[in-house]
Amino acid sequence: MKKIAVLTSGGDAPGMNAAFRAVVRKSIYEGIEVYGVYQGYQGLVNDNIKKLELGDVGDIIQRGGTKLYSARCPEFIEPHVRQKGIDNLKNRGIDSLIVIGGDGSYRGAQRLDEEGISTIGVPGTIDNDINGTDYTIGFDTALNTIVDAVDRIRDTATSHERTFIIEVMGRDAGDLALWAGVAGGAETILIPEAPSDIKVVAERIETGMERGKKHSIIIVAEGVMSASECGEELRKYINVDTRESVLGHMQRGGKPTGTDRVLASRLGAFAVELLLEGVSGHAVGIENNSLSKTSFDQVFEEHHKIDERLYRLSQELSI
Ligand code: F6P
Repeated sequence: MKKIAVLTSGGDAPGMNAAFRAVVRKSIYEGIEVYGVYQGYQGLVNDNIKKLELGDVGDIIQRGGTKLYSARCPEFIEPHVRQKGIDNLKNRGIDSLIVIGGDGSYRGAQRLDEEGISTIGVPGTIDNDINGTDYTIGFDTALNTIVDAVDRIRDTATSHERTFIIEVMGRDAGDLALWAGVAGGAETILIPEAPSDIKVVAERIETGMERGKKHSIIIVAEGVMSASECGEELRKYINVDTRESVLGHMQRGGKPTGTDRVLASRLGAFAVELLLEGVSGHAVGIENNSLSKTSFDQVFEEHHKIDERLYRLSQELSI
């Protein structure tokens, strides 16, 4: 009989619990034993593995964070460290592992797959930066958290006629900044995938003020520069009263949205289905609203791209 293990790894994301729940329930539904690996790859190496029952995933679909805990484990790159993890799985007769995480976590899964453990990746990260899926689990929730913060900041920005610079997460990807900028009506969106000319930003703020604009919102992705660096750069060109806001880890927390819960449920269950069909070394995703699978090699082939049309639209709407 197949035995499946599941872990969450890298930065946590709202909806990871829903994906974990789906993996456990779908496995049990199919009559498969399922094991939870606690604390990501670190827990795999430390043998922090427990057999799970239906009740272990009760009352978690609505919770942020990850009940399986997460950790970053740079040592996992070492073959002898990975071997310990493989031995811990094999000692229990576990031959398959589902990894819920970002592309860093997928790299560990790819190595394990080459070394005899069948693995499937489930995209769990707020960054939306993984190839082979239109959306990652956690992106929608983080986006809504950011938009809520931008709306609040806009209120005070208007009252005080200030320019606000809001720094958002995303590592080296601009999806969160771009989507939040469009949804929050930001005047300027700075993302790593497009050139950032602060002189042009300054000129646009000035033109806006001359037209009677009371405030300006700049959303800067952390992969471009920090909010304080952006403020410093801006003040080289114009004399504006700026305030900087770094949204930080609050973007990673909170109840997952309904969209993230449904996405996580679909992808978690699909990962189990693929393992049952004998597929491994792949990541699951959602593309054009259909479930899809992409080999890890293809996922890593190129850097994730932003939606160019959405970026152009953001420019057109923020004139
Ligand atoms: O990958 C998710 C993410 O939240 C990124 O957006 C951010 O750059 C990073 O993780 C922060 O990592 P840590 O929690 O280790 O500070």
